[in-house]
Amino acid sequence: MSKLGVNPEGKIALVSGANRGIGKAIVLELLANGIAKVYAGARNTEALKDLTEAYGDRVVPVHLDVTDLNSIAALSKSINDIDILVNNAGVFSIGKIFSETAVSSLKENFDVNVWGVLGLTKAFEASLQKESNTAVVNISSLAGLGNMPMAATYSVSKAAVHSLTQGMRAELADKNALVVGVYPGPIDTDMAAALPMEKDSPENVAKDIVNALKEGTEDVFPDVMSKEAGAYYANSPKGVEQQFATFA
Ligand SMILES: NC(=O)c1ccc[n+]([C@@H]2O[C@H](COP(=O)([O-])OP(=O)(O)OC[C@H]3O[C@@H](n4cnc5c(N)ncnc54)[C@H](OP(=O)(O)O)[C@@H]3O)[C@@H](O)[C@H]2O)c1
Repeated sequence: MSKLGVNPEGKIALVSGANRGIGKAIVLELLANGIAKVYAGARNTEALKDLTEAYGDRVVPVHLDVTDLNSIAALSKSINDIDILVNNAGVFSIGKIFSETAVSSLKENFDVNVWGVLGLTKAFEASLQKESNTAVVNISSLAGLGNMPMAATYSVSKAAVHSLTQGMRAELADKNALVVGVYPGPIDTDMAAALPMEKDSPENVAKDIVNALKEGTEDVFPDVMSKEAGAYYANSPKGVEQQFATFA
């Protein structure tokens, strides 16, 4: 079932990890689509200078470390007008299940990718349950739909984001809130710099996310690889598991 869309025009958004990569591309795409204001979350707000210089007070830099509950609480006290929350901040800590680093790597991934999404969304719950249409966008990964052994612990964290997304959608089902899950393949950002694979652009990811917001699409496969894998997953989750198991 899909919900009414949330056109960014005239709305207000908060994007985590807005200083580079996919997060920055999302900020730019929201601005290109008439968003009134974006709270751009970053651990180092100096890194947002080019955005504030180019867009003036349509971009409001905010200090945000999603692993720091005090930082999240302070932010949610000072901001009560958001319509769209984009949980983009993430880390890619590599670890295999049967490695010595499995637990530490899983913890690193969970601290940002899972507890960060949960903490930020819960802090802004009231904003998301307003009368007007609102949206929350969670960036999972194709690796959240099938475990990739080369990044097994990261996959586990992104599977948790997928489930969190479904849970949020279920609990907000009777509200005017659209909950969007995004499942990218390899994207050309710092995070994927070491991956020797063809990569799509963060700009294409951002475009598909904003289109999904407008159209009320819940599941987004925003790049060449994910469009193919997403279609395959719809028919054969087991097939995807077996294919991804070869990415060792
Ligand atoms: N690139 C890919 O191939 C790919 C594929 C599937 C999914 N994704 C997901 O897409 C999202 C964006 O990734 P990306 O490719 O744009 O990666 P990126 O270029 O490495 O950017 C990661 C962003 O997350 C921020 N961040 C990390 N830890 C944080 C924390 N504790 N608090 C707040 N912000 C934090 C970083 O801030 P700093 O600059 O301060 O480090 C940076 O802004 C992530 O959730 C990632 O898992 C990426």
